[in-house]
Amino acid sequence: MSSITAAAPSTQHEDGEGAENLGRGRQVLVGERGQAGEHDAVEGEKYGRHAVCSAESARAPGFSRVSGTLEIPLPEQQHFRSNASMTHVGPADHVEQNRRFWDDQAAAWHGPLARDHWAQVEPSWGLWATPESQVSLLPDDIEGMRTVELGCGTAYVSAWLARAGAHPVGIDVSEKQLATARAMQAEFGIDFPLVLGDAEKVPYEDNTFGLAISEYGASLWCDPYQWIPEAARLLVPGGRLVFSRYSPLFALCVPSEGPVSTTLSRTQFGLTQLNWGDHVEFVLPHGEMLRLLRACGFVVEDLIEIQAPQPARDYPEVSADWAQQWPSEEIWKARLAG
Ligand SMILES: C[S@@+](CC[C@H](N)C(=O)[O-])C[C@H]1O[C@@H](n2cnc3c(N)ncnc32)[C@H](O)[C@@H]1O
Repeated sequence: MSSITAAAPSTQHEDGEGAENLGRGRQVLVGERGQAGEHDAVEGEKYGRHAVCSAESARAPGFSRVSGTLEIPLPEQQHFRSNASMTHVGPADHVEQNRRFWDDQAAAWHGPLARDHWAQVEPSWGLWATPESQVSLLPDDIEGMRTVELGCGTAYVSAWLARAGAHPVGIDVSEKQLATARAMQAEFGIDFPLVLGDAEKVPYEDNTFGLAISEYGASLWCDPYQWIPEAARLLVPGGRLVFSRYSPLFALCVPSEGPVSTTLSRTQFGLTQLNWGDHVEFVLPHGEMLRLLRACGFVVEDLIEIQAPQPARDYPEVSADWAQQWPSEEIWKARLAG
């Protein structure tokens, strides 16, 4: 296994009234997502790479139930391709590092935002608050469906699913995020299981859920070669996988500090793991993501590149102007064959 990691950034953030951040490790300010005219607190971060992958089990062709390893051959050049600011040192344990980051820092930024999200009537997705009516992420037959939210955070997505008639389960590695989720459950009178754990190893049986969903949760914070086979294992045949994350273009153009620019900051060959010093994110390029999904038995039904609306607010990591010209985030929809 090889990995490439970017130099650690200096991390700082201003105190605001609270901070919003959808999946991202970057801290963003309070207020409705996607709306213009609000100010942001800030953060920094960085990047790297990771090659082979394992999973407890999966339906993937190429997955060995004996070794528990999903092996997807990578082109030789992708194993060690470094950018100027990168080193070949990766975090020993991204799950533990990210758990600490969320428990020690990021959960405090998210907590104050939970109530507004829980109170929302129509679901909207991602940084740009794209309405459900535009992207149709939720299956038509959601009523009565068992769903799992991988990296649920404050679990507002699962709350929306519950209101739509689903039977959700949320899993998250951060005790503090789940504490906020529990408080919201009590306040809004919506109850469903919240599981403290790693979305790369979910303590549920095979073939349990009709939908696995992640809005900047496992989709950003977990190793795709772990969490996607795990999602395949959890889903019933024909089950849906929906997730949103930063786009690879965003990942290529975001510098070590400051907002995403129009200059490529790193190479695409070798891009996978983004190491920001105190936390790790994953953004697999499109071809690799497509091959991974197919290897895990998924049929990809859509890849929606999100354009920021007009007007829209700026975020520390991406301005509305940038995201009106290029996609800063994207949504994948896939269905498990069978
Ligand atoms: C930004 S939140 C995404 C959830 C929600 N959509 C939101 O915006 O608040 C990212 C979540 O991923 C969780 N997370 C990070 N690594 C994880 C892992 N290995 N397993 C489960 N959850 C994880 C974090 O604790 C955090 O709550």
